Amino acid sequence: MDAEGLDVARGAALAPRARFAFVTPSHQMPLGMALSLPRRLALLAWARGADAWIIEDDYDGEFQRASAPLPALKSLDDQGRVIYAGTFSKSMFPALRLGFLVVPDGARDALARVASLLHPAPLLAVQRAAADFLGEGHFARHVRRMRALYSERHGALSRALEELSSPQLQVEEGTGGLHLIARLTGARDGEVVERASQLGLAPGALSSFYRSDPTEGRLDGLLLGFAALPASRAQKAVHRLAQAIAPSPPPRPHALARTISVDVNGSGGRSARLRNPNRA
Ligand SMILES: Cc1ncc(COP(=O)(O)O)c(C=O)c1O
Repeated sequence: MDAEGLDVARGAALAPRARFAFVTPSHQMPLGMALSLPRRLALLAWARGADAWIIEDDYDGEFQRASAPLPALKSLDDQGRVIYAGTFSKSMFPALRLGFLVVPDGARDALARVASLLHPAPLLAVQRAAADFLGEGHFARHVRRMRALYSERHGALSRALEELSSPQLQVEEGTGGLHLIARLTGARDGEVVERASQLGLAPGALSSFYRSDPTEGRLDGLLLGFAALPASRAQKAVHRLAQAIAPSPPPRPHALARTISVDVNGSGGRSARLRNPNRA
């Protein structure tokens, strides 16, 4: 992975017998970059050459921030290699358990059979209600409203992180979606996540996305979701996050002794010091 997203040539070299590639081109999960156009074309060329499939997981494509988002792989695919997966989990709510596939004609029946084996179909009434919601234009209006709200929340979180200007955090804006990535230095992300959860926050740990613990080049970072963080609470949340990253150390015993010094004779001169009983 680099600034242009998936390194297609390296992926092909690492997995020469791959039958499919599973990708999140509009907003790489978890790092947040978009797959560049040349890489999209390289991936399609790989699929053609390797007689392989591409599964395009467009899990939050409704919330891209670029003014001219790149075309979906599916729309560039003239060879019927791309299976496009969308979901209403981000655009509506996860409990709906509703998603959809856009598949090449020849693969439709086989995929419908597989899908019916994997998971019971969502209730027909829910599917009908969702279809009406879309057909009557409510979904498009809802997404427009949510885009404006999320853009405000994204801005508030970005500003609060900028104001914090922690030398341990490097924020990467990404191209859209509902979370920011903040790279961490000098702290392990798993430990920060644990401390943050005790403070009522729920960031994700970047390192949890590794298949196995890397021996070198390990990235530590935090996934900071802002969809449920009102702009007015961003600053407070970021201050708590700062505590989770660098918790204040417990006072050192001799520092304690110095602060609790008592002037016993009232002269302001000599004073008796309360000693830490644990020290000789
Ligand atoms: C990478 C990715 N793909 C897909 C989804 C959506 O999954 P589902 O439709 O099962 O809720 C998510 C949800 O968070 C996700 O992070």
